[in-house]
Amino acid sequence: MSDTPSKSATDHSIVYQPSALVRARARITDWDATNAAADAAPLKFWEERAAELGWFRNWDQTLDDSNKPFFKWFVGGVCNIVHNAIDRHQVTYRKNKLAYIWQGEDGTERFMSYGELHREVSLFANVLKGLGVVKGDRVTIYMGRVIELPIAMLACAKIGAIHSVVYGGFSDAALRGRIIDSNSKVLVTCDGAFVSGKHIDLKEICDRALISDPPCPVTDVVVYKRTGRAVTMYDSEGRHDHWWHELMAKASPVCATEQMGSEDPLFILYTSGSTGKPKALLHTHGGYSVYTYTTFRYVFDIQDDDRFWCAADPGWITGHSYIVYAPLMNGATSVMYEGGPSYPAPDRWWSIVAKYGVTILYTAPTAIRGLMRFGAAHPAKHDLSSLRLLGSVGEPINPEAWKWFYENIGGSRCPIMDTWWQTETGGFMITPTPVVPLKPGSGTRPFFTIKAEIVDETGAPVPAEGEGFLTILNSWPGMARTIYGDPDRYKETYWSRFPGRYFTGDSARMDADGYYWIIGRVDDVLKVSGYRFGTAEIESALVSHPAVAEAAVIGLPHEVRGNAIYGYVLLRSGVMASPELAEELRNHVARMVGPIAKPERVEIVDKLPKTRSGKIMRRLLKSRAQGLPEGDISTLEE
Ligand code: WT7
Repeated sequence: MSDTPSKSATDHSIVYQPSALVRARARITDWDATNAAADAAPLKFWEERAAELGWFRNWDQTLDDSNKPFFKWFVGGVCNIVHNAIDRHQVTYRKNKLAYIWQGEDGTERFMSYGELHREVSLFANVLKGLGVVKGDRVTIYMGRVIELPIAMLACAKIGAIHSVVYGGFSDAALRGRIIDSNSKVLVTCDGAFVSGKHIDLKEICDRALISDPPCPVTDVVVYKRTGRAVTMYDSEGRHDHWWHELMAKASPVCATEQMGSEDPLFILYTSGSTGKPKALLHTHGGYSVYTYTTFRYVFDIQDDDRFWCAADPGWITGHSYIVYAPLMNGATSVMYEGGPSYPAPDRWWSIVAKYGVTILYTAPTAIRGLMRFGAAHPAKHDLSSLRLLGSVGEPINPEAWKWFYENIGGSRCPIMDTWWQTETGGFMITPTPVVPLKPGSGTRPFFTIKAEIVDETGAPVPAEGEGFLTILNSWPGMARTIYGDPDRYKETYWSRFPGRYFTGDSARMDADGYYWIIGRVDDVLKVSGYRFGTAEIESALVSHPAVAEAAVIGLPHEVRGNAIYGYVLLRSGVMASPELAEELRNHVARMVGPIAKPERVEIVDKLPKTRSGKIMRRLLKSRAQGLPEGDISTLEE
């Protein structure tokens, strides 16, 4: 079970009541009444929400649960998320409303209206078609944080292609594995990206990922020029590189939005699990549209005059749902920032809030803790009075960070929406809405219609205040439908441990008020700076090094990152241990998985603690590293 900073310091009694101002503006004014109505008739609740969106053809059946756990929503409906995100705004005042305000790390600014976004997406959709992409094809997107990333995603969705965005912090090996697994023929990238004062050579990383031996399915690479750094453009028999701007200049701006069945795939997104192989969660056009549109609308209470900033990367589910699809479906204006939070100075974020008058800021505890270290003088330099709501996601927020965020950023007037959810859930699952009284560190209660339950190992419900496994009892429109190409693994991973329930992989506690407190992962998945890694994934990166015979990876508490990765390795016989080798192994993980996965420390050991059946006892490594009691060691080998 992973330790989290919030665990020890959790105070269940502090309650922050919403101000009269917050209550006056809120869309959901009576949470209990809305919740009771939704609980009494969940399908009606979702039908009404779905009816707020545009459909080419209405659905016949709201929920088909005849083949559990493969649920279907809005069966028979015909739609396209792009119709709701872009097309339908073209005939309203929103055509000239800003969709994105973009700030480059180097100070460059861009403003893009819904009208312009429509044009860019149509052009790029035709570019993809020109490269032979058709409905159902997978397209891998590996870009920096530029508006062209959402444009590429939306262009895929518009023509019915399935996007697979790979976060720009992953290595060439990780990118290659995802390209091969998804069998993508087209890769969209940038020449580079500016992050924290460094140039990330995205195109070069792609070139290394696309080496032809063994064969790689990509035939065409589209390169968006962001930084102007020199890159090599390849043009050989099996591989053609193209400049984005050159293809766009030749493309037609007229492109029909493909009619998709509700259950047709929209995207796949890879995430780490408890095995070494990342899994691609698949989301669909219909249910995902309805779920993300609704959760965003109610939780962030989005209004036409808001300027919303989700500081995550579009390459993660947070960005897919709440930078791209939900804000656009709601006709919102979003701020996007390319670079690192403290570059060139620790007040960069706060200057952006002030500059654009951001009203809602959604970020992660690790970022808050990181910026908190620089002190309150930095936010104090800027006028943050435009803010009215804050949000947190990715890991439990410790009360100290909560308080700092609430007081120094939100001026003690902005409720913090602590949203618990996952790549698998598509959208918020346990979350307040603005009128819900808050307890720092708790995501409060499940969203409307969601039935969460905490159970013990046997699947029996745990009474209030007891700790256990967090499960979900029902289906919701935004849930992932399967693991792409591996429905058995989907069933096995999420639906077998507690039959009839979705198992989240998290442990949690519910207090006497029905508020949920997430404790952490219980499935060999680590959250490091909000990123998700399987210990097995890091271990297999370590053992891929010729010097390593065996490896064990654990997470230890870290003040800013939440968890830090610690690796323990046994060397092959004849290999000499040295500090240089330990350092080389850290770098090897960074090369194999990505810089974001670089272990805090790799320790070379003579022996790994194992059970008599040969299983590495990570729990023991963890308590030893922390100087804690060793607990039950009766199964230890020697
Ligand atoms: C895991 C999912 C969903 C967007 C980003 C992460 C942890 C997420 C919270 C929160 C406590 C949280 C859980 C979850 N988590 N949000 N508000 N409070 N823990 O998506 O990479 O799929 O990770 O992140 O452990 O299972 P993800």
